Amino acid sequence: MTRMQAPKGTFDILPDACAEYQHLEAVCASVLERAGYRRIATPVFEETGLFERGVGDSTDIVSKEMYTFEDGGGRSLTLRPEGTAPVCRAYVEHGMHKQQQPVRLYYTGPFFRHENPQAGRYRQFHQVGAEALGSDSPALDAEAIIILAELLEAFGCDGLTLRLSSLGSPGGRAAYRDELSAYLDARRDRLAPEVASRIATNPLRAFDSPDPSTRAVMREAPLLLDRIDADDTEHFSEVKSILDAVGVEYQVDPSLVRGLDYYSRTVFEFTSDLLGAQSGVGGGGRYDGLVELLGGPPTPGIGWASGVERMILAAGGAKSDNSEHAGALIIPGGESDQGMASRLARDLRGKGLPARVEVTGRSEKAALKHAAKIGATAVVSLGPMGASVRMMESGETTENLGLEEVKALLGRNGLGAG
Ligand code: HAM
Repeated sequence: MTRMQAPKGTFDILPDACAEYQHLEAVCASVLERAGYRRIATPVFEETGLFERGVGDSTDIVSKEMYTFEDGGGRSLTLRPEGTAPVCRAYVEHGMHKQQQPVRLYYTGPFFRHENPQAGRYRQFHQVGAEALGSDSPALDAEAIIILAELLEAFGCDGLTLRLSSLGSPGGRAAYRDELSAYLDARRDRLAPEVASRIATNPLRAFDSPDPSTRAVMREAPLLLDRIDADDTEHFSEVKSILDAVGVEYQVDPSLVRGLDYYSRTVFEFTSDLLGAQSGVGGGGRYDGLVELLGGPPTPGIGWASGVERMILAAGGAKSDNSEHAGALIIPGGESDQGMASRLARDLRGKGLPARVEVTGRSEKAALKHAAKIGATAVVSLGPMGASVRMMESGETTENLGLEEVKALLGRNGLGAG
């Protein structure tokens, strides 16, 4: 029989590495909740139309990276490739526009994109994301960026650069797209075929191309940041001046292109030079038209998402934690003690103490060795003369105890982290 493997581009997070994910979740919760963000969890799959409409038909994500399937009822569903459209859908569906604005939300969980796997790029990956809906204040843009910077710093990410730009508003962008399309069209023969084929649908993506000849053309290309209108320029200046006041360093990068269609005004991305080709750690921007596009009232919004695997890489790789926190290992003296051993373990856990029963019938000597290997803090041996308790670190042993005395003794000593 061939051996089964995890699907291409996915990976198991083994117990030693889970500690890193839990640590990251705890850091996220503390940084975001301190800033007034509340957790939201949306389904892992959504109606396909949500992403087609929200993220945009011509984006790479929608046109080639979605895991789309039909369910038994003939509905087209898609494993979520990103979290902003689902959060906006939930905002509309639950009438959150009636709550105090802005509504600040955050999420963590798995996301799915059918991309070519490489270091830092997977088909199932994890994001932590934050969305703030209901205000177009530049102070909220700055807040979103500052919080992501705080989070990356709290998690220990290194080598970070923040790139920042503004895409202006949809009207100005349409005129600019025409101008850029005409510019690209006139230089079609110098563009990579992929870029040339998308001049009409998504000319902005040309800024993202790694092809040297395309890059040379793009160095001379007109820039959207030079074309945005006075209001958008003012909004962008305000965002920058708040970041300056807080001391968050950034580079204005007019060629910053994000791979999703819903953005307007501020866009930003943190990269890390510890990441190689997949240098984007986290990014986001303002999406003032998205809620309305999904059938809600006109509602501005801003947010970001950061890749958990990339944050771990940028923090120097997963620190493995192989401590089991085994607590008390209870050895039944014989088969007749199994019930008593299980009850003692349950009672200790009920008091908040980690405890487990030795279930494989090891001899007492073998069980003691096993206890040392799994890092047990105490060994309880049951026998006809009552129980004996050995504290593993000090070697101190107390004999002939009743069960209540065992619980009291272990309660007094504590059993380490549970
Ligand atoms: P995004 O830039 O597509 O934005 O993804 C955010 C982050 O997810 C990336 O910076 C990267 O760290 C991680 N990521 C994306 N694709 C993969 C992959 N295949 N493997 C590993 N990590 C990956 C969004 O998703 C937007 N929803 C962000 C946002 C929120 N904008 C406004 N609000």
